[in-house]
Amino acid sequence: MAIDYRPGQTTRHLFDRIAPRYDLLNRLLSFGIDRRWRRAAVQALALPADARVLDAATGTGDVALTVAAAHPRIQVVGVDLSANMLHAARPKLGPARGRISLVQGSCESLPLAAAVCDGAVIAFGIRNVIEREAALKEFYRVLKPGGRLVVLEFSRPTRPLLAGLYRCYSRHVLPRIGSLLSDGAAYRYLPDSVDVFPTRQAFLAMMQAAGFRQVRHHDLTGGIVTLYCGARPVSDLCPRLSDSDRPA
Ligand SMILES: C[S@@+](CC[C@H](N)C(=O)[O-])C[C@H]1O[C@@H](n2cnc3c(N)ncnc32)[C@H](O)[C@@H]1O
Repeated sequence: MAIDYRPGQTTRHLFDRIAPRYDLLNRLLSFGIDRRWRRAAVQALALPADARVLDAATGTGDVALTVAAAHPRIQVVGVDLSANMLHAARPKLGPARGRISLVQGSCESLPLAAAVCDGAVIAFGIRNVIEREAALKEFYRVLKPGGRLVVLEFSRPTRPLLAGLYRCYSRHVLPRIGSLLSDGAAYRYLPDSVDVFPTRQAFLAMMQAAGFRQVRHHDLTGGIVTLYCGARPVSDLCPRLSDSDRPA
């Protein structure tokens, strides 16, 4: 089945289909390294003990759980388009249940007030968000001045040997395992969507255009994934006016 890259229904249906075996495939296909990547993303948030954190595109909640594990007073809001992904997340919450709320919603129009989060994170999600500029502006809007955004996303490795090996793995091995255990089309979509994702520098420029400062990136595992960090400036004490709010 071909994947339609337009926003909305397709992404939701794709993740609805793969939700039941999403975690299993993550562990298998990454050889378990995905957990380390998520921990690195949460560390990069450098959260205070009583932080309120947005986990955008939370999926089955692995990042939300990693954030909640960082301190017993941290509160997390996990937002995702897919009802089935959130359904798979709920039984995993365990003792953190009271501190993690899961809400169905979109990154482009977050169900949160302005300047309420100390940190925002999105792991393996921004690649699937079609209106990326809108989503980045939403992350900025919900962050308090000084709050950090951390984006964890697949990248194209820069070293030719690793790039070749990884390309072969992601083009040939990954879709086969995906179709055996879950949904082949969805796991063919993964390397396709990594190929069309902006370069590291282009994505940093998008973060800057959304208002983030101190933007930087850091490659993990030879550049198979990249961590992007930025902050809403401390000096930005007033929420930004949208065009429709601006005085005429
Ligand atoms: C690859 S999963 C990542 C899930 C999780 N963050 C993780 O680390 O495993 C991508 C998730 O992004 C969600 N998603 C895609 N586009 C979205 C959007 N525009 N708004 C909210 N969630 C979205 C999908 O439903 C899916 O659960």
